[in-house]
Amino acid sequence: MRSRPRCAPRSARRRWRRRGDGAVVVADRQRPAGMDAGIGASQSPEGCVPVRLRVNGELRELRLDPRTTLLDALRDHLDLNGSKKGCDLGQCGACTVLVDGQRELACLALAVAHQEDEITTIEGLADGDRLDPVQAAFIECDALQCGYCTSGQIMSAVALLEEARRGVPSHVTLDVSAPPSLGALSDEEIRERLSGNLCRCGAYPNIVAAVRRARDLNGGGSAD
Ligand code: FES
Ligand code: FES
Repeated sequence: MRSRPRCAPRSARRRWRRRGDGAVVVADRQRPAGMDAGIGASQSPEGCVPVRLRVNGELRELRLDPRTTLLDALRDHLDLNGSKKGCDLGQCGACTVLVDGQRELACLALAVAHQEDEITTIEGLADGDRLDPVQAAFIECDALQCGYCTSGQIMSAVALLEEARRGVPSHVTLDVSAPPSLGALSDEEIRERLSGNLCRCGAYPNIVAAVRRARDLNGGGSAD
């Protein structure tokens, strides 16, 4: 087996396994056959490629194993740990970030595919000491328990408010030719638009209340 690049993300270098006697030990990760096939001529001899990301308004230049996900680039290489790794499979939403203003699951995106893109993480939402209205609403509405899902919920909420402002319909929009305005966003619409973000603590009622509150703070008015 070929050796891994020195720039490989920690998650690609190390995995845990349980031994026969029940002890948990560090084990090398078994990569699926053919996983190295995409490594091309533009790589450096060490197997890394240059990656330029604009993260929270700042240009960050990295050399990464081309298989590094955007989530691992943020967490393991840029020490931005606000974006959480829940499932690493695109199912929980804990890793949600904004890419050029659109929400995206960072665990399913390759960092190398986002050259020069504007990435916003939870660390980039506040303006100095002034919280984003969604952050303030989550605190005001007590919309978290353990907090593990919270940064993903907040990033999704920020995006959903912007989507509603732009008139983007959702799966529960009755008339897609006349989607609800931001002020008319119902709880059903909020729940649907946040359905990709799971909360294992079950803080959903307060999360919906927080999004409603943020909508009002954003000048959306109240429809409920
Ligand atoms: S960690 Fe990305 S969706 Fe769960
Ligand atoms: S607050 Fe614990 S998972 Fe959502």
